[in-house]
Amino acid sequence: MGSSKYLSSFELIDFPDLGDSRGGLTALEEFRQVPFVIKRVYYIYDTVSSVTRGLHAHKKLEQLAVVVSGSCVFDVETREDKESILMDSPRKGLYLGGLVWHSMHSFSDDCVIMVLASDYYDEADYVRNYSEFSALAI
Ligand code: TYD
Repeated sequence: MGSSKYLSSFELIDFPDLGDSRGGLTALEEFRQVPFVIKRVYYIYDTVSSVTRGLHAHKKLEQLAVVVSGSCVFDVETREDKESILMDSPRKGLYLGGLVWHSMHSFSDDCVIMVLASDYYDEADYVRNYSEFSALAI
């Protein structure tokens, strides 16, 4: 465990399947499937398969990313861990807490990423420089 004052963790969460013969259904509830108060929701769509997005971390923000349609790959890195995660189901969520350097790539044409966030948009919370991320994560 590092001595950074910042939260730095990620986790893949499986959501309950509430679907039936009529189709799929997944519900996300605050403090149940979503481990924080939801202050913002944004979504990423019309992605370009050859483009890599993200390439940043946050100081305090907690997020839960759900690929509600299609698929893409999230590369995530904390002070302790590094993984490449294929997100290809609306019943999976990727929790990103604080200092997690992340990028998204290999988008399918129908990829839509919905992100629930614990706070309003604040550029000051972004860490967009990898060396700054490395220094903060120590
Ligand atoms: P950014 O987070 O850099 O995109 P990504 O990580 O998906 O590549 O955001 C792109 C731009 O959109 C940037 O100028 C900030 C702005 N933005 C908002 O204004 N509000 C938001 O909630 C988000 C996520 C981004």
